[in-house]
Amino acid sequence: LIEGRVGRGTIVRSPAGGDRGPIVPPAWDTLFAARPEGIDQEVRELVRLFNREDLISLAAGLPAPDLYPIDDLRQIFDDVLAREGASLLHWCPAEGYPPLRRSLSDRFPGTSPDEVLILSGSTQGIFLITQALVEPGDLVIVPSPTYLGAIQALRSAGARIASVPVDERGLDLDMLASALARTRPKFIYCIPTFQNPTGATLDLEQRKRLLELAHHYGVPIVEDDPYALLRFDGDPLPTLKELDVSGEHVLYLSTYTKILFPGLRVGWLVAPRKVVERLTSGKHLLDLFTNPVAQAAVHEFDKRGFLEDHLRRVRGEYRIRRDAMGDALRRHCPKLTFAPPDGGYFFWCRLPRGIAARELLRQSIDKGVSFVSGEIFSADGRGRDRIRLSYVTHPPDTIEEGVRRLGAALRQRKRKSDMPHDRESAPRPIV
Ligand SMILES: Cc1ncc(COP(=O)(O)O)c(C=O)c1O
Repeated sequence: LIEGRVGRGTIVRSPAGGDRGPIVPPAWDTLFAARPEGIDQEVRELVRLFNREDLISLAAGLPAPDLYPIDDLRQIFDDVLAREGASLLHWCPAEGYPPLRRSLSDRFPGTSPDEVLILSGSTQGIFLITQALVEPGDLVIVPSPTYLGAIQALRSAGARIASVPVDERGLDLDMLASALARTRPKFIYCIPTFQNPTGATLDLEQRKRLLELAHHYGVPIVEDDPYALLRFDGDPLPTLKELDVSGEHVLYLSTYTKILFPGLRVGWLVAPRKVVERLTSGKHLLDLFTNPVAQAAVHEFDKRGFLEDHLRRVRGEYRIRRDAMGDALRRHCPKLTFAPPDGGYFFWCRLPRGIAARELLRQSIDKGVSFVSGEIFSADGRGRDRIRLSYVTHPPDTIEEGVRRLGAALRQRKRKSDMPHDRESAPRPIV
């Protein structure tokens, strides 16, 4: 009738269940695999912020939903399903929908479709590259600050992350050179055009020098390039992939998330065939293949010229929104310093001395506006005096109101020094 168990006590046996015993809940905390340090908590907070309807979000790096070409897309989805419905719904090669691979390889003369891998978003590409190349303890060089998704992927693989500062003037290539002279990373991750979060773009000289370093030391570069087509001022620059005469050093990633919308979940990689093959095996394990209906739709959207029309439209509108944010910041937040970007999504603003981004965020949420505080983008603790504001998601009057609320929070924030000011230019050891 009763049963004694060491460490648990004496328990009355279940009368109906014979000797089945009590139901034991899984001890989840002991079942989860040990993981290298993560930033899950911060990411969860960020996503919560993005979704709060009572706030004007200048936080999320998401496109403008009011500009989504929904009618054109309905037509396109209808047409591709009418034409290829059964085969699209059935299966697709892990490497991607062949016509899409072909048209993407055409963007890079001399590249064949076998050098293209279609991804379920470019974040998947960062993850697959990391999985394929990084073992715990391996060194990877990233800009500081940089895309949060890259930091997360690297941390989850146990990489040692070395940071090279980037600001509005570009990447600190002297520091990169001296790091490479001392140590050999598995790869260098970078976003050469309209970087997330700084908006910085490497000029042609910096691109060439970065490639020279990669060539000299035999180190691959992961070029993450979601924003380049969203340029509304200045001339386009060649990608590192285009400049790489070796054809071997650059793993080029891009996505439709920023130029169309994130819900598609279609991104792509151009890389040497050997790398594509290796990453395809990894993709097989993750999700077998990327949604073929979305791949066919985006291919058709581009082929019929709708993508170019859409880009023309959003570039025009994003320029208006960039100007609206610059204007509003000058009027409502005159103590912030920033350089308006020539494209992309973001203003990267320096706070007045003594104000910490995290504290300001708390105050701003009370006033009804959110942004992303700078340190989340750094693996080396920089950015506590910076905030990232996205200007593309909302129309100008909402931007104006959001920045007005930010200005109110800034004025209220007591200037009694939350912290010492970050010294951006102070050299720091890289490893
Ligand atoms: C640099 C960078 N890479 C990748 C992504 C995500 O792209 P995707 O939605 O294709 O995963 C973002 C989005 O924030 C980004 O800024």
